[in-house]
Amino acid sequence: IESLFSKKDLTGYKVLITAGPTQEAIDPIRFLTNRSSGRMGFALAKTAYQRGAMVTLISGPTSLKPPYGVNFLSVTTTQDMLEAVLRHFPSVDVVVMAAAVMDFKPLYYPHKIKKREKLSLSLEKTPDILTILGKEKKHQYLVGFAAETQNLLPEAMKKLKSKNLDLIVANDVSGFEATTNKIVLIYKNGAYEKWPLMSKEDVAWRLWDRIKTFL
Ligand code: CTP
Ligand code: CA
Repeated sequence: IESLFSKKDLTGYKVLITAGPTQEAIDPIRFLTNRSSGRMGFALAKTAYQRGAMVTLISGPTSLKPPYGVNFLSVTTTQDMLEAVLRHFPSVDVVVMAAAVMDFKPLYYPHKIKKREKLSLSLEKTPDILTILGKEKKHQYLVGFAAETQNLLPEAMKKLKSKNLDLIVANDVSGFEATTNKIVLIYKNGAYEKWPLMSKEDVAWRLWDRIKTFL
């Protein structure tokens, strides 16, 4: 199978990819999560492996099976994902945060909340993984995604700057849970590239074409 993919241009590079949603429990039977299939991150992991990279994929719960050849780590909460990412961060060349990370978590109730009891949730913020990586980065090339429903470019640019990223993939959320994605790449020098509607596998393949020029 590997010989079918002649382009091994990521050989020697270690990449860390996150995918899927994180989940935050409310009580033993309920949780809060984000809408995310995991397909974009899994496609990035699969294509990076095909091109010769050593790949670690850290994913929240999805219905997808781990791509062949990839070091796969399954996590649930934002805190779990942060800890797994920090363990791998020092030794990788690239991090692509494609995960839909929960921004807040509810106060956990150890027993099932009965509907007669309580109809409000108190939320607290979870850590921002990319912001932490942006502060700690040395040689690593940092790539984020921005999911927006409005003001795609300005919102994505703000995230690129505030998280100290090298590249952000601005994602029109009409692509959610679909097999296609419409995106704009924004680089830290302000240059940007609009891509036509394409499959997540094609997006992944082309994203590695761009990232590799910075390694
Ligand atoms: N991200 C992260 N840790 C979080 C939240 C988000 O690392 N706690 C990452 C995502 O994986 C993504 C990027 O930050 O690569 C932007 O995520 P997004 O949800 O679009 O932006 P936020 O900074 O969370 O802002 P908001 O949701 O308010 O738009
Ligand atoms: Ca968010």
